[in-house]
Amino acid sequence: MAVKFQDKYLNGFVKPEEFDHVSREVELCHDILHQKSGAGNDFLGWLNLPFDYDKEEFARIKKAAEKIRNDSEVLVVIGIGGSYLGARAAIEFLGSPYYNNLDSNKLKIYFVGNNISGSYLNQILALCKDKEMSVNVISKSGTTTESAIAFRVFKELMEEKYGKEGAKERIYATTDKARGTLKNLSTAEGYETFVIPDDVGGRFSVLTAVGLLPIAAAGYDIDKLMLGAQKACTDFAAPGADNDCYRYAAARNILYRKGKTTEIMACYEPSWQMMNEWYKQLYGESEGKDQKGIFPASVIFSTDLHSMGQFIQDGNRNLFETVVSFKNAGEDYFVKADENNFDGLNFLADQPMSEINKKAMQGTILAHVSGGVPNIVLEADAMDEENLGYIIYFFEKACAISGYMLGVNPFNQPGVEDYKVNMFALLGKPGYEEHREELLKKLGE
Ligand code: PA5
Repeated sequence: MAVKFQDKYLNGFVKPEEFDHVSREVELCHDILHQKSGAGNDFLGWLNLPFDYDKEEFARIKKAAEKIRNDSEVLVVIGIGGSYLGARAAIEFLGSPYYNNLDSNKLKIYFVGNNISGSYLNQILALCKDKEMSVNVISKSGTTTESAIAFRVFKELMEEKYGKEGAKERIYATTDKARGTLKNLSTAEGYETFVIPDDVGGRFSVLTAVGLLPIAAAGYDIDKLMLGAQKACTDFAAPGADNDCYRYAAARNILYRKGKTTEIMACYEPSWQMMNEWYKQLYGESEGKDQKGIFPASVIFSTDLHSMGQFIQDGNRNLFETVVSFKNAGEDYFVKADENNFDGLNFLADQPMSEINKKAMQGTILAHVSGGVPNIVLEADAMDEENLGYIIYFFEKACAISGYMLGVNPFNQPGVEDYKVNMFALLGKPGYEEHREELLKKLGE
């Protein structure tokens, strides 16, 4: 298990000694992170989480997951942002967008409360019709509008289906340990609850019950997931030239300081798609503040070579790419020979798709580098639970170091409140009357 940082495609963009120049800075960031003396130091619960987690709760998560797998055909997971992305990313990474659990014919997992679309909600409701189901509602605050609306809908559905008593056996709430609307409601209704620790922010919470319950319900091995995270926690515990997590954080900042203000996360496996979304939240919300930050973008190749390839090759040169590759991406497929070679593809006969994909990757990296886009390669071993735990921790820790190098507090998100205030005012929420008038004037209504 490993994530190896490769810098050979930074040649011509970053000199080896530039890593030496920032090494002291990296060490300082490491120190303030581990001594808990930096900005956001009350949100560092994720740092030792792979070892310091609630073992009693972990056992309850596995039990609840088993019950869900035994008594349900559908699991509806309600949550948004950090209370959504990690679980979905992990489940689809271990399976695929179409195969989101180990026994795909049995338990279907649907994610709701991550948007405000009525038609999306109706479609999921239709998929739940006549199905045995469970609900996992996830919200630290318990007041997030998107997830609260969805929970209202699914609470009603569950009570219609199973009655109040039956519903409470099938609704699982993941929330604050003591406070908040969802915690209070769960206590009143008697739902089984799981905890989002106070010192773990949403985007760093995938290895808490937030991610673990849906991942376990999907049939994946959360013991192995935690083992992988433990290994990464140990491997990246100290600064040094062999700490690939810190080298990645350093490379991002070296490139940023040269005007490479957009990072494109690229992967050649479609199962990585939601991991891209998870990465974008992790880095976007952690670094994009005080008018600074690397803009996190993403692509899945070769798919997006047919859409974004032109821009990356030839557009604005403010980009660098980080390519996540896997030594073993799972079961292979071998191209067959065709007697008539009608499509001229017999030169690929008997080749595994993994090899063709690898050549596409190598060819693309060389082309993009020639086009002026520095490439970082992060090579992981396999697409399984242990490697996923390792990868998650790698990106979380690199994000913390990178954010400190950038000079921001990587653990807050003051900017996400502004839209909510406007939305509440426009919706006529009590207490927002004055602000509503100002906004209506601006809208000309
Ligand atoms: O990272 C974050 O803090 C956010 O993305 C939150 O997770 C998101 O807004 C959901 O919040 P909550 O869990 O309180 O419903």
